[in-house]
Amino acid sequence: MATPTTALPLLATTTTLLLLLSILNNVQSKPSNNDDDFGTSLDPSKALGGRMKREKLSHLRLYWHDVVSGPNPTAVMVTSPNRTSASGFGTVIMIDDALTLGPDLKRSKVVGRAQGLYAVASQTEVGLIMAMNFAFIEGKYNGSSISIMGRNRVFTKVREMPIVGGSGLFRFARGYVQASTHTVNLKTGDAVVEYNVYVLHY
Ligand SMILES: *[C@@H]1O[C@H](CO)[C@@H](O)[C@H](O)[C@H]1NC(C)=O
Ligand SMILES: *[C@@H]1O[C@H](CO)[C@@H](O)[C@H](O)[C@H]1NC(C)=O
Repeated sequence: MATPTTALPLLATTTTLLLLLSILNNVQSKPSNNDDDFGTSLDPSKALGGRMKREKLSHLRLYWHDVVSGPNPTAVMVTSPNRTSASGFGTVIMIDDALTLGPDLKRSKVVGRAQGLYAVASQTEVGLIMAMNFAFIEGKYNGSSISIMGRNRVFTKVREMPIVGGSGLFRFARGYVQASTHTVNLKTGDAVVEYNVYVLHY
């Protein structure tokens, strides 16, 4: 069904579009008196400035720096369980970790930050639940982000976690990441993890 919204200029900003949609919905809902009809079908081929015609698979290789020691840690424990277990079950850590192009934090370019948290979700092994956004600050991905939510058994060689969505250039994102530990400093607990990101987006 053709709706008045399909005639809107394609260059309208998202804010303007949403504003107009809400006005149109208000106007339309009054005569029909149908409050259930609050969604509108849009043509996917015209969405995202025409970019939705072609889905892309991108691979990004990044290094994730979990700094727990020193004066400026980027990973901090926010709660720990009252009852201790060997796995640390219940520990919650909030992160704002640098994402770089190379494994050396001092020498390589920071292209984004991994912001979110991880928590020990297993009572029998160091098995984490990770919920984090890769927020990019460089190049064409600047301002875009990828959301990752998954299980991370840190002593396994390769851990796979789903990409559950994204923003900006990563709108409608899906895919997975593979994490493998690059180095761990056993004295400080600081860790560098290689992330290979495989993301489908438009
Ligand atoms: C923590 O554990 C101790 C000892 O079992 C107990 O006395 C205390 O009430 C617990 N605190 C909380 C906040 O649960
Ligand atoms: C990334 O985007 C922000 C906000 O638009 C801008 O201030 C910043 O200069 C950009 N960084 C790069 C490296 O282009």
